[in-house]
Amino acid sequence: MIVLKSDAEIMAMRAAGQLSANLLDYLEAFVKPGVSTLELNDLAHDYTIKHGGIPAPLNYKGFPKSICTSVNEVVCHGIPNAKQKLRDGDIINIDVTSIVDGYYGDTSRMFYVGSSVSSAAKKLSECARISLFKGIAAVQEGSRTGDIGAAIQQYAEAQGFSVVREFVGHGIGRTFHEDPQILHYGQKGKGTRLGAGMVFTIEPMINQGHWKTKVLRDGWTAVTIDGSLSAQWEHTIGILSSGEVVILTESDREIESRPVI
Ligand code: MF3
Ligand code: CO
Ligand code: CO
Repeated sequence: MIVLKSDAEIMAMRAAGQLSANLLDYLEAFVKPGVSTLELNDLAHDYTIKHGGIPAPLNYKGFPKSICTSVNEVVCHGIPNAKQKLRDGDIINIDVTSIVDGYYGDTSRMFYVGSSVSSAAKKLSECARISLFKGIAAVQEGSRTGDIGAAIQQYAEAQGFSVVREFVGHGIGRTFHEDPQILHYGQKGKGTRLGAGMVFTIEPMINQGHWKTKVLRDGWTAVTIDGSLSAQWEHTIGILSSGEVVILTESDREIESRPVI
């Protein structure tokens, strides 16, 4: 069942989205060689509370921390850890979700650690970012979830990369994960029809090697099956009653560097 939102509700969701987006802007300066993923978690937790939000991941289905930190071959749901210090050349996805006035805003970005990130890793990260915007460009009243998946899959596979199947985008509102599911692969014209009042995430995970993943024994950390690098970018998107598509989790700084699709 898809819970449709009024324009006023979507604008209220924008407050949560903006807190999450501004949090990622804030964290960027701290992503450096030597910082631990737990330090990033603690900075994010304190920032969220200070700005009137609640970090949604904390205790969500038993998740133990306030953000997800997914380094190199980790696809998603990496758990911040004091012993995990970032190293020059790493790539990291930071995924943050804030609750403001009961509404969730979910977004993630890739960051380069230090100055020696390989051009192959940068190409992968850029592919995931462009894939997200290809997916967003496929959203309009009357289009279907399969149009989003097809746009992403076509672009990523043409670059020689693969699209993760086991984790998908999702409707979002007063709950973290709701209908519809947004697959990042698929066929044009298939799937759920999109329309006014829908709010959902698009969050493609793109791998250098095979698309398959496995979950480590901590029950959360998903890694690529072949140890190849993985990259992910995520936005929360809404469709207003006019049919206008709005990105709820884009910071002012980010809008300036939006890719031209
Ligand atoms: N933010 C993730 C998503 O994009 C969900 C994280 S759930 C957690 O859907 F429990 F791992 F935090
Ligand atoms: Co999400
Ligand atoms: Co997320």
